[in-house]
Amino acid sequence: MTILVTGAAGFIGSNFVLDWLSQSKEDVVSLDLLTYAGNLENLSSLNNNTHHHFVQGNIDDRDLVLNLLKKYRIRAVLNFAAESHVDRSIHQSKDFIETNIVGTYNLLESARSYWNDLDQNLKQDFRFLHISTDEVYGSLNSSDHPSTEKDTYKPNSPYSASKAASDHLVRAWFQTYKLPVFTANSANNYGPYQFPEKLIPLCILNALNGKPLPIYGDGQQIRDWLYVKDHCTAIREILKHGQIGETYNVGGWNEKTNLEVVETLCAILDELKPKSDGKSYAEQITFVKDRPGHDKRYAIDASKLRSEINWQPQESFETGLRKTVLWYLENETWMNHIVSGEYQDWVQKQYS
Ligand code: NAD
Ligand code: TYD
Repeated sequence: MTILVTGAAGFIGSNFVLDWLSQSKEDVVSLDLLTYAGNLENLSSLNNNTHHHFVQGNIDDRDLVLNLLKKYRIRAVLNFAAESHVDRSIHQSKDFIETNIVGTYNLLESARSYWNDLDQNLKQDFRFLHISTDEVYGSLNSSDHPSTEKDTYKPNSPYSASKAASDHLVRAWFQTYKLPVFTANSANNYGPYQFPEKLIPLCILNALNGKPLPIYGDGQQIRDWLYVKDHCTAIREILKHGQIGETYNVGGWNEKTNLEVVETLCAILDELKPKSDGKSYAEQITFVKDRPGHDKRYAIDASKLRSEINWQPQESFETGLRKTVLWYLENETWMNHIVSGEYQDWVQKQYS
């Protein structure tokens, strides 16, 4: 049998596919539209792997998806495909509505049509796992308990609103049609292959190039940080042991202010790649205009995943961040290929 991974050339999707094929003989079909965020270089180590099949295409394309489901006798769909960057959603929300909402809807319908026609045994084993975010719960105050699966959705950005809508569709396809789904709502991920529009890889890139490390507002906003490989393990475990129709919060138990994140990053860089003038990278920190509607705090209570599935993150923020910095230092060519072209236009638009 085979699994279908959408958004497989993006940050988390590619980490998931690499992780899956390093420990399973089950084939993977990777479906990705290859937007600005999709990068086939992330999967290049699989070029000669006969268990991996890459297809360029849109989750919105029902004919294509249905054909893939039938051709490869897919037993699980893992939906990572999305427009994923909050700042881009503020500039251009349309793409977020199209992929995150309409795309998820069409993917659900393709899956339902395929699943309806399966033999009883295959039908029983089929799963649809939707990857979502803690941002659907909205902003917490400092004294609030971290978000649990029972909390109300209160999304504030076009990105989080589009993800919240997709989560509701997934839930409705379970309640109405009994499609066997799960949803995983994860905290902020970091690690190898992350596109340098997000805080951590952006700051690594800018630090090494002697550019400002832009902190929005006062830098006191809090995120919960999860090393991407811990997230991949959680997804595998949910697929294996999750209860159909349930949602699972996946968090790192690592709440940090943005300023703490960037300062820790600078300290690691100072140690691993000291500047020739002896100064600290922290001197490049620059406070810039805040993000409109900037959520103050996200935090995840991942105890349901611990008690029901026995999953816990393996990395602390310190160990995960060190691995991440080392990966970027060792993969300069990957970074150099990304930062040409469209990336420059984005940086100009967002930071000039
Ligand atoms: P990403 O932007 O790095 O990758 C998204 C991938 O989806 C890209 O390869 C892109 O080409 C592909 N894609 C976009 N539109 C598509 C479409 N219509 N059809 C097929 N492919 C399409 O995102 P990511 O950080 O890897 O996030 C993956 C998933 O995890 C998303 O659903 C995101 O909402 C969720 N998530 C991300 C984080 C995080 O910190 N990065 C945290 C929680 C949840
Ligand atoms: P980001 O990596 O974009 O993830 P998200 O918005 O999904 O949490 O941003 C993480 C935090 O860092 C968020 O509070 C916004 C902040 N941030 C900056 O301060 N400067 C930046 O240049 C970026 C990209 C983000």
